[in-house]
Amino acid sequence: MSDTAKLHLPDGQSIDLPVLTGSENEKAIDISNLRAKTGHITLDPGFVNTGPCESAITYLDGEKGILQYRGYPIEELAEHSTFIEVGYLLIHGELPNRKQLEVYVDRISKHAMIHEDMKLFFEGFSKTAHPMVILSSMVSSLSAYYTEASGKASIENLEINSARLIAKISTIAAFSYKKSVGQPFVYPKDELSYCVNFLNMMFSVPAESYEIDPDIVRSLELMLILHADHEQNCSASTVRVVGSSMANVYASVASGILALWGPLHGGANQQAVQMLQQIYEDGANISKYIELAKNKKNKFRLMGFGHRVYKNFDPRAKIIKKVCHKLLKKLGVNDPLLELALELENAALEDEYFIEKKLYPTLDFYTGIMYRAIGIPLNMFTVMFALGRVPGWIAQWKEMHEDQKQKIARPRQLFTGPNKRKYKPITERN
Ligand code: CMC
Repeated sequence: MSDTAKLHLPDGQSIDLPVLTGSENEKAIDISNLRAKTGHITLDPGFVNTGPCESAITYLDGEKGILQYRGYPIEELAEHSTFIEVGYLLIHGELPNRKQLEVYVDRISKHAMIHEDMKLFFEGFSKTAHPMVILSSMVSSLSAYYTEASGKASIENLEINSARLIAKISTIAAFSYKKSVGQPFVYPKDELSYCVNFLNMMFSVPAESYEIDPDIVRSLELMLILHADHEQNCSASTVRVVGSSMANVYASVASGILALWGPLHGGANQQAVQMLQQIYEDGANISKYIELAKNKKNKFRLMGFGHRVYKNFDPRAKIIKKVCHKLLKKLGVNDPLLELALELENAALEDEYFIEKKLYPTLDFYTGIMYRAIGIPLNMFTVMFALGRVPGWIAQWKEMHEDQKQKIARPRQLFTGPNKRKYKPITERN
């Protein structure tokens, strides 16, 4: 017998609401019949207490700092897995065996080319266009080429469309960078692994040979794995909401990319490095910026700090911080922003304001420094986050469509506007 919660309403009604238990003993009150039975809705700005779905993809315990994809701890995946293997795990639910992985890797690499006509689209963007806008527009344009992805067929053809998405997004990202620096596009090569292929498309030029450092490849794999999913965050929820209208997977992911771009979400990785640069150029006066972040009259926040769910160390930040030191040492990069980031982190973690509000550095606080070290330009940081998040978005989209209980996303509201009134002709208005 399932547990129930009893809700008593001021008008005398009462209702028994089922209390559900998740596989990690999480509790949820099922209010899906609340309005039908009582005429009441719930109000929850920012969905702070609202679970729009049951999900078996990612488990996150923000109090304990735990993150697991399909039950596997992020620390183990980060150490042993590759991005493509993790993508398979997220989308299919299980780690692939050797044969399944070979087929999957092959399918993804074979879909990395984009239609030649799409190259013309890059010409239409202004020089100052942010790469996230280009990425979202190009991903949404893929629906024009793969029309079997629309409507219900979109779900039936997900295997092929998800391979196209994972593969082509890296080509689109690299082409948008090449366009911004005025270099020729470098085409994908089937025989290269996902990360090597991406680095080759980004940094090789026809005039020179390009050697790829295996430590850079491994760091990139790691960062993409850490980005790959994060349960019902802003962009994953966007993908689900858009997908719930039966919009195709390309349109849904393109919307997710735009949601990710915001500075409070994935855009924070660019903002965090810009903030570190600003603090550095302003004499590295850390206490000045800690005070600014605490001052409610000032809009300044420590970017890369604080999270809706993590009230403890972000496990991804712990992993990246260790690797960041190693990589910079190996590459012989002496980045003053890393030293500054460490000092800022220590100062914030000892400050009463940050302790009381449980504000810890997140993944975004460190990934930017890693991306800088491997030559990724500042305005491409959030694009890198998007590349990593694609398998997660696809997994969320797929799970939503497979869930018999899902309906079109259509929240309610509490109307607080004017009551019915008579139209006033313009001559009678003040
Ligand atoms: N610097 C200073 N104060 C902060 C910060 C910060 N980075 N983050 C939160 N606070 C304060 C905030 O002012 C509020 O104070 P009070 O209770 O006195 O009004 C309190 O902490 C709670 O913050 P909130 O904004 O109500 O919490 P939220 O759960 O709605 O927002 C957040 C979470 C991530 C938007 C917020 O922490 C933030 O703006 N951080 C900086 C941006 C950032 O780094 N975002 C990346 C998040 S991780 C990537 C991802 O998964 O998307």
